Amino acid sequence: MNYLVTGAAGFIGAAIVERLIKEGNTCTTIDNLSTGSKEHVPHGCRFIEGSVADVNIIKSLESEKFDAIIHIAGQSSGEISFDDPVYDLQTNTQSTVMLLKLAQKMGCKKFIYASSMSVYGDHQPPECKEETDKVPKSFYAVGKLASENYMRIFSEYGIACTALRFFNVYGPGQNLSNLRQGMASIFLAMAIKDHHIHVKGSKDRFRDFVYIDDVVDAVLRSLNREDGFDVFNVCTGVATTVENVVKSICDALPYDVTVEYKDGTPGDQFGIYGNNEKIIKALDWKVTRDFSQGMKDMIDWALTQEF
Ligand SMILES: NC(=O)c1ccc[n+]([C@@H]2O[C@H](COP(=O)([O-])OP(=O)(O)OC[C@H]3O[C@@H](n4cnc5c(N)ncnc54)[C@H](O)[C@@H]3O)[C@@H](O)[C@H]2O)c1
Repeated sequence: MNYLVTGAAGFIGAAIVERLIKEGNTCTTIDNLSTGSKEHVPHGCRFIEGSVADVNIIKSLESEKFDAIIHIAGQSSGEISFDDPVYDLQTNTQSTVMLLKLAQKMGCKKFIYASSMSVYGDHQPPECKEETDKVPKSFYAVGKLASENYMRIFSEYGIACTALRFFNVYGPGQNLSNLRQGMASIFLAMAIKDHHIHVKGSKDRFRDFVYIDDVVDAVLRSLNREDGFDVFNVCTGVATTVENVVKSICDALPYDVTVEYKDGTPGDQFGIYGNNEKIIKALDWKVTRDFSQGMKDMIDWALTQEF
């Protein structure tokens, strides 16, 4: 099969492409290297440098044939979406519309999108099912939800559209140099580099951490969907507090790490975890790594990295 996977110079996109190529498929990626790096693009993947919101790049692909478009590229920080909402809209939502239109023009029948748990906002109770009310708290989350709705309507043109609401993805390969996205990677990078973690917000906040290999598996399983629009939480169903994330890092490192708590960031959700019954049932997906095992693997990997 031949796939267009956007964002393969980044954490999740690279892991997806690596697995697709390993299974004998061919892949093309578009990445503007804003947070990703060229060395991260898996060997054998055709690389187009530029923006997924660039009309010329999208147009240049119109005569090609892809079995699916897997749209992963995007800016993934709620904080950045407040600094520059227009940039967020172009990168995360305009790009989705342009790629859906491309799929329609080239007769591509499958479209998979990296949506986010942020669409739910602060929900009470904090366990979110796919049908739970969605009240986005950041421009980032508004854009992700809008993308899902574009997909829902485009699916009526015969494109099987799957929105995957990733919860907090973590694991080897996450960017340790970017201190604006990825809770586990930010804390781990600070602990290794400075032996000091400063946390923006309360230690009692909690998240649902899902391991990168399980996220890749969810994407691959979505490729089997043949029609219509559907949306799935990609999560473990387990809430882990910020305090526990910090503790698991401090306990695992062979030196003392100090911890300081500061004010939170705007639009940050307090606590959320997902219900994963739908994806387990519909796509036969499962969680293969719990947080303690996954974090151990990530720390072992991080200690071998230069950043
Ligand atoms: N990591 C998570 O926990 C998480 C959770 C929910 C959703 N997501 C979504 O998953 C996707 C991937 O996240 P990630 O963690 O791999 O982030 P990442 O920053 O590691 O990867 C994103 C990639 O997209 C590229 N990119 C950004 N804007 C672009 C543009 N306009 N044109 C082309 N390329 C562009 C970056 O250079 C980078 O290589 C994002 O859309 C993000 O919103 C991630």
